[in-house]
Amino acid sequence: MPYAQSAQLFARGCGVFPDGTTRATVERDPIPRYILKGEGAYLIDVDGQRFLDLNNNFTTLIHGHGFSPALDAVARLLRDGTCFSNPTVHEIDLAELLVDRIPAVEQIRFVNTGTEAVMFAIKAARAFTGRPGVARVEGAYHGSYDWAEAGQGGTPSTWGSPDAPVAVPAYAGTPASVADDVVILRFNDAEGARRRIAAAADRLACILLDPMPSRGGLIPPDPDFIAAVVETARNYGILVVCDEVLNLRQSYRGASARYGIEPDLIAAGKIIGGGFPIGAIGGSRRVMSVFDGSAGRAKLAQGGTFSANPVSMVAGRVSMEALTELAFDRLEELGDRLRAALTAAIDRHRTHHVISGAASLFRIHPKRTLPHDYREVYPLPHETASMKEMTRFFRNEGVILPDGAAGCLSTAMSDADIDKITDVFERFLVTTPVSAGEAR
Ligand SMILES: Cc1ncc(COP(=O)(O)O)c(C=O)c1O
Repeated sequence: MPYAQSAQLFARGCGVFPDGTTRATVERDPIPRYILKGEGAYLIDVDGQRFLDLNNNFTTLIHGHGFSPALDAVARLLRDGTCFSNPTVHEIDLAELLVDRIPAVEQIRFVNTGTEAVMFAIKAARAFTGRPGVARVEGAYHGSYDWAEAGQGGTPSTWGSPDAPVAVPAYAGTPASVADDVVILRFNDAEGARRRIAAAADRLACILLDPMPSRGGLIPPDPDFIAAVVETARNYGILVVCDEVLNLRQSYRGASARYGIEPDLIAAGKIIGGGFPIGAIGGSRRVMSVFDGSAGRAKLAQGGTFSANPVSMVAGRVSMEALTELAFDRLEELGDRLRAALTAAIDRHRTHHVISGAASLFRIHPKRTLPHDYREVYPLPHETASMKEMTRFFRNEGVILPDGAAGCLSTAMSDADIDKITDVFERFLVTTPVSAGEAR
């Protein structure tokens, strides 16, 4: 068995964790592979197998594994202390870098995860507007705050009619009041967005918008949709919150800048921590003033035992400094090359696949044409089976392609890595077994 050591660890894990691991997102086929170490673009598992990593801890590791400048800076810091109840210079350094780069961010607060960042962005919008509700895009993932989760995992039997999408609760027992305060918009449906936002306007604090939701298919936002959301929000005094936890990696100035959105708040995370836990809420001074407790009680008190810990701050700053405009240009070129090469392979073999994504992100869909929204992205059973075969094929060829075939590149990758991904994909198309063939 090529994963005997992983199997042993998984057996131990099953004794202490409800499903053997501690993250719902851990991939298993048939069991999770336990990692010994990462090296640049590659992972080595406990059985000694080496994989090109297209997951990069769910897009976090934009420099790949073991990025030495960040590790050296952290090593120098460790003996001086890893967390304090007092502030340090390191939080100011990272904050200044982000304020300089991201047009929507005049001021910022740090937390420890993207989930917290989204949660505090929503709470900040509530504190600012005095309203409870959130409008969000169907299918998008925003972490696990109740109001950010409702509507993320709908299926054809639960998501409701196209005109009235349902805020499907994420788990049994979610208070019904959560759904009352969540309005679902369909991605790229400008008219529907206008209508639904206007109908709930007096209860809405914010519109939570990821400009290119990963679970929604990494599909480009239609400028009319973006304009409809932003204009309607402005008309009713509703705040626009861009969730850039994942998509900040789309450019030097982030995703909202790339797509011409001027949000009131953004939520960030992942790449800004240089491989350590982090989240951040940033926005205009006017809105961020809800966190200001200097004259007594803040409208919104935000703390967190590990918030702004110096390890994440230093690793994040060093890692972000290395992400120069040139580094982003190179990532964009790698991404463009990969998406074009995958598309050319599809054309050569005339299969029903299509590629989406931007910058360092890509996704392979088992579809004839580019989907428009979550409902079109949602895979039919034979498509799910074919995608499972694809990720298995990639793994057997030494490439970790995340489930759903949504992958990301890192600055540690070379042209040879892009060629390797393309070559494996092409061989998959040639050797696709029967169930995947149905997608043709
Ligand atoms: C768009 C988006 N928002 C929020 C989150 C939650 O971030 P975290 O896992 O750090 O809590 C994620 C995580 O993948 C994400 O992709």
